[in-house]
Amino acid sequence: MHRTCTCNDLSKKFVGQEVTLCGWVNRRRDHGGVIFIDLRDRYGLTQIVSDPVNFKEAHEAMNDVRTEFVLEVTGKVRARPDGQANKNLATGEVEVLVTKLKVLNAAKTTPFEIDQDKEINEEMRLKYRYLDLRRPKLKANIILRHKVIKFIRDFLDRENFLEIETPILVKGTPEGSREYLVPSRLYPGNFYVLPQSPQQLKQLLMVAGFDRYFQIARCFRDEDQRGDRQPEFTQLDMEMSFIEMEDIMKINENLMIEVVKHFAKHKKLKKEKFPILTYEEAMNKYGSDKPDLRFEMPMVDVSEVAQKCEFSVFKSAVESGGCVKALKVHGGAKFTRKEIDEFTEIAKIYEARGLAYIVVEEGNIKSPIVKYFKEDEMKKILELTGAKVGDIVFFAADKFKIACEALGHVRLAVAEKLKLPDPNLFAFCWVIDFPMFEENEETGKLDAVHHPFTAPKKFEDLEKSPEKALAKAYDIVLNGTEIGGGSIRIHDRKVQKRIFDILGISDEDAERRFGHMLEAFQFGAPPHGGIAWGLDRLVMIFADEPNIREVIAFPKDSRAKDLMLGAPSEMPNEQLAELHVKIDIKKK
Ligand code: AMO
Ligand code: AMP
Repeated sequence: MHRTCTCNDLSKKFVGQEVTLCGWVNRRRDHGGVIFIDLRDRYGLTQIVSDPVNFKEAHEAMNDVRTEFVLEVTGKVRARPDGQANKNLATGEVEVLVTKLKVLNAAKTTPFEIDQDKEINEEMRLKYRYLDLRRPKLKANIILRHKVIKFIRDFLDRENFLEIETPILVKGTPEGSREYLVPSRLYPGNFYVLPQSPQQLKQLLMVAGFDRYFQIARCFRDEDQRGDRQPEFTQLDMEMSFIEMEDIMKINENLMIEVVKHFAKHKKLKKEKFPILTYEEAMNKYGSDKPDLRFEMPMVDVSEVAQKCEFSVFKSAVESGGCVKALKVHGGAKFTRKEIDEFTEIAKIYEARGLAYIVVEEGNIKSPIVKYFKEDEMKKILELTGAKVGDIVFFAADKFKIACEALGHVRLAVAEKLKLPDPNLFAFCWVIDFPMFEENEETGKLDAVHHPFTAPKKFEDLEKSPEKALAKAYDIVLNGTEIGGGSIRIHDRKVQKRIFDILGISDEDAERRFGHMLEAFQFGAPPHGGIAWGLDRLVMIFADEPNIREVIAFPKDSRAKDLMLGAPSEMPNEQLAELHVKIDIKKK
């Protein structure tokens, strides 16, 4: 061992002892002959001091070192002089008087300063990720991530779960995203697929009798990147047998509350018991299947009265099967024309054709659409929305989903503008009763909202009106982010067959893609279900970070590139030939 203790260990009780520390030069200061170095390792900082008279050689060596040099320092611990203790540092009461200094390695000038919390261009941070990881914030995030995962492992172990690894080279998984392919050398023209999740394998583990499984599982999805998405990310993946939806929700809620209490002590839980909303309720009230419940501001449906008014946009929306949604904003009368235009632009991003509004003033309604309403109709609108003097009410008229989602995004934007979400509040909820299927706008066919192994609430619905059938599926949502989702699975071949029929998956196709599942289900599949949490997202929220890259040691950038490794990259022709791969890039 090079060292006797870490850079975070020393305190007054070590005074007089000889110690050896190893670490990086965080900062070096020359105070007229005496040199100070803050030596840094993973654990903390310790101040090192030279003595140019008694330990000349060590002093001279200290003279030559620069920031980020790696040192081995031997010396005596002594108390810092009165009034010079640093309360912000665990080792702040002492320093080490250097008797011997060994430079273990020199360092070039780093492309950015390590000991500063300054904003640094992200490209730079990603290219030199190993340096960024030396900085306090990122380091703290990585440590937090480790602790959260360790806690989860221990919790689930106590609950009788087994952690089982599943392969990374698999066959297609039906999670709905584009997949990463790995060409097979041994089987020309054949490919492995990287798992979008261990979905099928964990179900097969249930068939195998491992009734409580979990895994900290790496998942791969070739989808467009966003702040809360990465091409590879980590799930806490779970599956259980002989359980109902409620059991899965309960154990996950308990685990989540424990995790929050341990690792997000600065956060207040809005409710200890997570509210359960149906998908329909969530869409109706908050215009989202992942509602931010840190603040209320619900939307209301005003279709009935809107249909009676003379505004053709409202009338026709309802007449053609859509709806008119209203959002009252308390105190929103103060919004400027420009702000209202900004909200309108947001509504339009989500496909709304406009954003109507009324401003409630003393004895007057100010609005471009007021002329279309009779007095009693306007009164009804005020009554339904609860709008009072000083408020504004926004309206979106469209198909149900568009009207809800567009106004839902306006709700979020308004809340942000008014600083409504309390940053220290954690508002969890469950969203249940998702539709089984949604119409694919391009093909007109039904697609599975979750994956095709999700059980329906009622089998009869599949027969009568599949487009209305609800799923035994649930999402767990925190402050407007979907942090997990799962479902009860189909364990009955007949039901599975019906789902494939509805999805237009032929027998041959089902056999080709999921034959192994269908076969396994004939050998005694227990009723089962599970869930997966997006661990990166959870830790991101715990760490108050805006982006999951901040809690991943080596993330890809927003265009799915690894700037440090330089991946993806071209491959030598011999390697491609071995894999029977030919590059054929069409010039644009
Ligand atoms: P789902 O696809 O909903 O379910 O994924 C579960 C959770 O994983 C997180 N997540 C992501 N995080 C970062 N980057 C991504 N690209 C990404 N995609 C998803 C989300 C999400 O809630 N097999 C099912 C689970 C099950 O049914 O048991 C599944 O993967 O937080
Ligand atoms: P117009 O009559 O086109 O000037 O529209 C009057 C108001 O209605 C404007 O504020 C528009 O933004 C708004 N508007 C237009 N279409 C819709 C719609 N589908 N839903 C809600 N408001 C709309």
